[in-house]
Formats: sequence, structure tokens, C-alpha cells
Amino acid sequence: MVKLLVADDEQKICRLLESFFVERGFNVMLAHDGKEAISCIRNERPHLVFLDLHMPGLNGLDVLKEAHLVDETIKIIIITAIEDEETIRKAKLLGATDYVIKPFSLEYLKEEVLAKVSTSLYEDLRTSNEKLKRSLDDLRQVTRGLVSAFSMVISKIDPHYTHEHVSRSVEYAAKIIAKLRQRGMLFNGMSDEVLLAGILLHDVGKIFTPKEILFKPGPLSDEEWKIMRQHPVDGAEILEQIAGLKEMAKIVRYHQEAYDGSGYPDGLKGEEI
Ligand SMILES: [Fe+2]
Repeated sequence: MVKLLVADDEQKICRLLESFFVERGFNVMLAHDGKEAISCIRNERPHLVFLDLHMPGLNGLDVLKEAHLVDETIKIIIITAIEDEETIRKAKLLGATDYVIKPFSLEYLKEEVLAKVSTSLYEDLRTSNEKLKRSLDDLRQVTRGLVSAFSMVISKIDPHYTHEHVSRSVEYAAKIIAKLRQRGMLFNGMSDEVLLAGILLHDVGKIFTPKEILFKPGPLSDEEWKIMRQHPVDGAEILEQIAGLKEMAKIVRYHQEAYDGSGYPDGLKGEEI
């Protein structure tokens, strides 16, 4: 909603502008002297100010100067009773957007407001979009940092087998994903980056697998296999703790399932996976 501030010591002018603009859907704030006007600009950030130059305390020119220090995009329309060329010249030098001489037409003022505020709203939108983009970039950096930290943990567990195995898995997966995308597979809306990060981290649950089982040279006993089969669930539980990695947790949980149902932990089959 467009925010207007009417700064005028004449109660009549304030009430007139307030009722006219409120009826037309604007959010209108009032200030009866310079100090009030400045504090409203600082706290409420109006898009446009109707500013009377002759007010008690801080006068309109001081308010103009101060207002632009607080918000350089603010639009200020001077309302003046006298056509004093010198004062108007000074006001424009201090950044006044425009001026109107009393008595004025309310319809004309409305057109002025709409014309001036649309640029200001566009700038607001652009600034918010830029801020949002920066936050998303920051978040992406954090996610990538977490993925690479976990990947480092995996490579520390067993630099000879697990790390090499992981790099190969990612390489093959990238090729398979590209082929399946060509055939129109959407992977439930997951991006390649998320899919490959999930594959990169697929064995993260091996952090909890005892080393004597992980590195046992001979075949595993039934009891040892039971423990080994726990690693997809453990890995998924680790990643589920982090909001940005939840999608990857699904890949980790189901990476040992097999199309014919012989995999683990849930023995899912075909399309169920
Ligand atoms: Fe695995």
C-alpha cells in the first residue's frame, strides 16, 4: 500500500488530504511540525510527503534536507501558499520532487502522487528482489559448504575406497541423469545439483559403521551385515537435521535399494523407489 505523509501545521489541510487519500486506498500519516515529520519519515518510511514549508520548529527546508539523508528515494511535494520563486528554487535544490500552490485541486494532486510514487514502488520492489537474491545466494553457499564438509568426512573415513567410489558414483550418475532428462524424466522436481550432492553424500552414514566391519577383508557375518545395512538410514537421519539438505536425505536413504527388490533398508521394488 502506498504510504503518504502530510506534514502541515494547518489542521484543515491535513484533514482534507487525509480524508481524500484514505478514501482512495492510500495509507495516510499526519505530522503538524518539522520534528514530527522527520520522526515519521525515519520510522514509517512513507513513499511520498506533502510538505508545508512554513511550520513551527524545524521548517520545511530543514525537513527536506534531513529527509533525504534518511531515505534518498523519498518523493517530496512542497505545498506552499506563496509563490516565492527564491524559496521554491532552494527547495528544488534540496531535492523537492515538485511543488503545488494553495489552493490546489485534489484530483490534480492524486495524479501527481500516482505518477511519482510508481517509480518509488518500482525501486522498492527492485531493492527487495536484490536483497532476496543475495539471501538465496548466501543460503546456497551454506548448503554447498555443508555438502563439501560432509564429503570431506566421508573421504577421511576411508580415502582409498569410499572416496574413490563416491567420485565414480557421481561421475556415472551425472551421465545417467543427463540421459534420463533427455527422455523427459523430472526426478520429482529435484535439480541436478541436489541429485548429485545426494549421490556425493550417499555413504555418509558409514560414519557410524564400526571400522572392523567396514574394512573387514573377508565376507561379513549375518550380524555384521545387519549393522552394515544400517548406513543408508543413519546417513538420511544426519541430513534430515539440516533444512537445506532434506531432499538429499531421500537419495541417501534409498541408494541401496535395488530394482528387483533385493536391496535395503526397505526392500522397495521398481517404481516404488
Ligand atoms: Fe552405500
